Amino acid sequence: MEILKTIISTLSFLQKAKAAHKSVGFVPTMGALHQGHLALVKRAKSENDIVIVSIFVNPIQFNNKEDLLKYPRTLEKDAAMLVSMGCDAIFAPDEKEMYPKPDNTVYDFGQLANVMEGKFRPGHFNGVAVVVKRLFDIVQPDKAYFGEKDYQQLQIIKSLVTQKNILVTIIPCPIVRETDGLAMSSRNMQLTAEERKEAPFIYQILQQAKAKANQLSPEELKNWVLQQIASNALLTAEYFEIVDTTTLLPITFWKESVHSIGCIAVFLGKVRLIDNIGLK
Ligand code: PAF
Repeated sequence: MEILKTIISTLSFLQKAKAAHKSVGFVPTMGALHQGHLALVKRAKSENDIVIVSIFVNPIQFNNKEDLLKYPRTLEKDAAMLVSMGCDAIFAPDEKEMYPKPDNTVYDFGQLANVMEGKFRPGHFNGVAVVVKRLFDIVQPDKAYFGEKDYQQLQIIKSLVTQKNILVTIIPCPIVRETDGLAMSSRNMQLTAEERKEAPFIYQILQQAKAKANQLSPEELKNWVLQQIASNALLTAEYFEIVDTTTLLPITFWKESVHSIGCIAVFLGKVRLIDNIGLK
């Protein structure tokens, strides 16, 4: 497996692959890899001739400096995991390589970027779109793999691909959970032992909410979830929204939407976790 730190070495690696008519699967990450990322790599391996994973903690998608500083950086461990998955190359640029000068592109994702994460993390999705567009320009993958835990991010990236006519197929992949139900996330490693014990509560509530979706209106269900989270001393909900899976607009009546999803952001101590569940 190659570890490529520069754009030029990545382009030359990919040129050889493309000259040999090999299909390229791409998994963009910020590192601190876990089984959720490895599931994306495994799927990419099964559908492409070669797989490249990017590892870059993208500063411009962090709206909170402390969060950026605390974000785990574990390149050596990540590389060992990727070797064991048969990954062909890692693209791990530093900030200067990725942004030799500031990229001030402003994207317009309409309501997709104004709700939920977009409301609480101003600028976050613009930063994601800027880096993903740059990564796609470099790697020019046939297929790119994204986890459904970041459901809103996935919709934003689909919109980016449509807006910019990027020739890539976006492959959404299901959330991977710990055995106790906690959605895998690089942020889980920042939880204290006590917080980690409490963390599965989030998914338990989402599952109960799904079971209650036939008895309660979306508004009642939303209030029920927020009350449950409030009843747990370690958790503080930032939002729980029931939205249409395509438009991401909050719904008030089930009939407003063919498919709806419940999306949650919760602080567990200082760690912010997100999760979601399909409701109807
Ligand atoms: O989901 C992530 O890890 C990041 O937002 C991404 C897509 C790699 C962009 O930095």
